[in-house]
Order: sequence, then structure tokens, then C-alpha cells
Amino acid sequence: MHTSTSSRARRALAPVLTGLLAVAGLTAASGTAEAASTLAGAAAEKGRYFGTAVAANHLGEAPYVSTLNTEFDSVTPENEMKWDALEPSRGAFNFAAADRIVSHAQSRGMKVRGHTLVWHSQLPSWVAGLGATDLRSAMNNHINQVMGHWKGKIHSWDVVNEAFQDGSSGARRSSPFQDKLGNGFIEEAFRAARAADPAAKLCYNDYNTDGINAKSNAVYNMVRDFKARGVPIDCVGFQSHFNSASPVPADYQANLQRFADLGVEVQITELDIEGSGTSQATSYANVVKACLAVTRCTGITVWGITDKYSWRASGTPLLFDSNYNKKPAYTAVLNALGGTSGGDPGNPGGATCTATYSKQEEWSDRFNGRVTITAGSAAITGWTTTVTLTSPQKITATWNGSPTWDSSGNVMTMRPNGNGSLAAGASTSFGFTVMKNGNSAAPAIGGCTAS
Ligand code: G3I
Repeated sequence: MHTSTSSRARRALAPVLTGLLAVAGLTAASGTAEAASTLAGAAAEKGRYFGTAVAANHLGEAPYVSTLNTEFDSVTPENEMKWDALEPSRGAFNFAAADRIVSHAQSRGMKVRGHTLVWHSQLPSWVAGLGATDLRSAMNNHINQVMGHWKGKIHSWDVVNEAFQDGSSGARRSSPFQDKLGNGFIEEAFRAARAADPAAKLCYNDYNTDGINAKSNAVYNMVRDFKARGVPIDCVGFQSHFNSASPVPADYQANLQRFADLGVEVQITELDIEGSGTSQATSYANVVKACLAVTRCTGITVWGITDKYSWRASGTPLLFDSNYNKKPAYTAVLNALGGTSGGDPGNPGGATCTATYSKQEEWSDRFNGRVTITAGSAAITGWTTTVTLTSPQKITATWNGSPTWDSSGNVMTMRPNGNGSLAAGASTSFGFTVMKNGNSAAPAIGGCTAS
């Protein structure tokens, strides 16, 4: 597996190598051009970023962090930059959790999207209790303090979030800001934001504005008015939370394009699509293709890394399953971005598999575990996964697999024992007995690599 560092280094070297070949009178054979093997790497080759929402309290979980570092080059704090997290009581700011995410991103060269400054939700009750004069000053102070704290470190801020109603009215949503400051609050927030960090791109962000409809028309009219009057706005965020009741609209690309034609960037800011298998993968690919077809669509952010931590976990809406296996949707996104899974000569089609753990029988001193391997949307001829124990646990027996061990004895790498060939979507499983030695923790299962 490539690390983000190595894929970034390869991208940085590519122009140098091309230059050297040109000096030598050679051209790179097209068949050897290296397609990127990560989401961020493939997106970068198309001039886009590929980001994810991140929660600070998961940054201690090894597979969460390694997936983040390998696959993404932009992060959005999922909750840590919201008003209730940053200013729970008036004038008392708490930046610690969001700082952890910003430091993580900065030390790895990732961009940060700021989410969000002015929003009716996750708003502490003290804000709702203010009269108009105090509310205006609290809003401006919040923008100044928060943007000032991370000045120069945030590439785009969601200055105002979800200020319009759903439905056919195109009206503003009732909120303390709307109700007490009137229609001008959005403009006022954007002007304050421009002054607080002139380098940050200033976005309006909303949901159910992904296709052409009454709500997106209302946002469109606001952005057109802002551009005409010189109110600072640089980007519009399309959250893109989809499910069977709210699928990717047929006019998604056309809608992105009409906003781009107003002279703003468009960003896909909170993408997730409930479902599984081929239909989920196809929807994801359609979103990526729409962004790539719109020159001013500068990046895509998915709303989380793994299904298990999604705000809609039961809808399995993300690109990695609960065990951090790549889903068919991952492969579809990577392919739509022009990348390929690893360039593995033993796996030219980029076939995928998943590995899922379940506990079986348990006794006082030991338990049996089973890992189910399932092929993705293409047939596979082999698979590899890992089972990591918590010391001093020991595995004393295995079946239906060929194990090898690392030097610590804690990590078992499992390959097939006659059960490597699986048709698309088909499963096999292997099992093992873990001696607890006082610790009943479930083993951690690594990703599944197909060949
Ligand atoms: O942190 C507390 C925890 O201490 C407490 O024990 C627990 C009990 O419910 O709640 C925890 O807070 C939760 C928080 O997520 C952190 O997990 C809140 O209840 C929960 O409401 C909150 O949900 C977030 C939601 O916004 C709130 O509106 C989701 O994580 C987050 O993904 C979601 O993100 C929004 C975007 O900001 C805007 N667009 C829509 C999107 C999805 O709803």
C-alpha cells in the first residue's frame, strides 16, 4: 500500500522525470504513465482536492488515521468548529479540539475547510437569548475571534450555513440571526469574514440545493446579487447528502455549472450516499464526474471516512466500511478521478474485497473468531487480510486459511488455503482460536487486499 507521503512524493517527481526524458529526447510511453492510487492523488492530478470530515475524538484510532493520511488531502472538522463547540459561553473560546484537527492536517500538508461560522443549529442557548444589538455584536465578534485564531490556515470557510427553508417558498429559514437581524445578516457576516481573514475563501453552504429547485434558485439569486453589488463571496458549498428519497439529481452538473457561471467556485462539501454495491458506486461516480466536468468545481469532501462513524451509519453512506475496507464506491470514485487501485500486476482490474469479523463460541479462557471475506463487484483469485491481537492474547489454532506472523506474534497475516477464488459478491471465511490470557478484546481486522 502506498502512503500519502510516497504518493505526494511521486506526484512531485513526475514533472521532473518528464523534463529529464524531454532533455534526453525521449517521451514517456503512455502505457507506463503511473495512475494515482489514492483518492487525493488521483484528484490532485485533476487539479482538485479530495477531503473528508474528521472528528477529533477518533484521531487516536490507528486505522482511522492511516486511512485519513493515505487517502485525503483536505479535512473539515465535523463538529469542532461549530459555535457550541468554540464559544459555549459568551466570549469564552475553546479551540482545543479543533486545533488538534488543524495541527494534524497542517503537519501533513492537508488543507482545512472551516465549518461553520453562522448557523441556526449547534448554537448555544445564550446566543438565541440576545436582543438584536447584542446579537449583531456577538456574531461579528465570533467571526473575528474564530477566523483570527486560524488566520491563514483555512482554505475555505462556510461563513453561513443552511439559511434557506426547504420546499417551494425560496424563503429564508427562521433563526435568531434571520429573525432579529433581518435579511442583511448574511451579507454582514460575509463582510466581517473578509476583513477577519482576507486569504480565506468565503462560502455559502447548504443542502437540498444540489439540483435546480426553488431552494437552490433562492441561493442562486442571493449569490448573483452579492456578485453584482460587490459583497464578498468566493464559493458555494453543495452538501450532497443523498439517499433513495433524495437521490443525486439528474441536473446536478447543470446546477453546479450555473453557479460557477456566476463567477464563484463550487465545492462538494459533505458528500455521502446511502446504499451499497453497484448502485451506490454508480451514484458516487456520477457526482465525481459532474465535479470534473465543471472547471470551477475545485474539490470534493465526503462526510466521514468509515461507515461506522457516519451521522447516518445505518445507511452505510461512505467509501470505507466499518472495518476500513474499501467499498465498491471507493473504487468507482478512484476510477472516475482517473486513478487505479495500486497498479498491482496481479490485480489489473482493481478488484476489491472486504473482511468482516464476528465472534463465535466463547469460553472462560478462549474464544473463536471468524473473518468473512467477500469479493467486490468483480471476481477475485486471492485475498490477504490481517488479524491483530491485544497482547498477551495468543492464537492457538486456525482453519480455512494460511497464516504467517510478524515478529511480535500479535499480527497474523492470513491468505487463502484453497479458498482464494471468489465470484463477484461471493464469500468465504477463515477461523481461529484466541487464548485470552486475561484480555477478551476483539481482534482488529485490517483491510482486505484482492488479487
Ligand atoms: O458530543 C456529544 C456527546 O458528549 C454526547 O454524549 C452525545 C449524546 O447525544 O452527543 C454528542 O454530540 C453529538 C455530536 O454530533 C458529536 O457526535 C450531537 O448529539 C449530534 O447532534 C451531533 O450531530 C452532528 C450534526 O451535524 C448536528 O447537527 C453530526 O455529527 C454531524 O455530522 C452533522 O453535520 C451536519 C453539518 O454540520 C451540516 N450539514 C448537515 C450535516 C449532517 O447533519
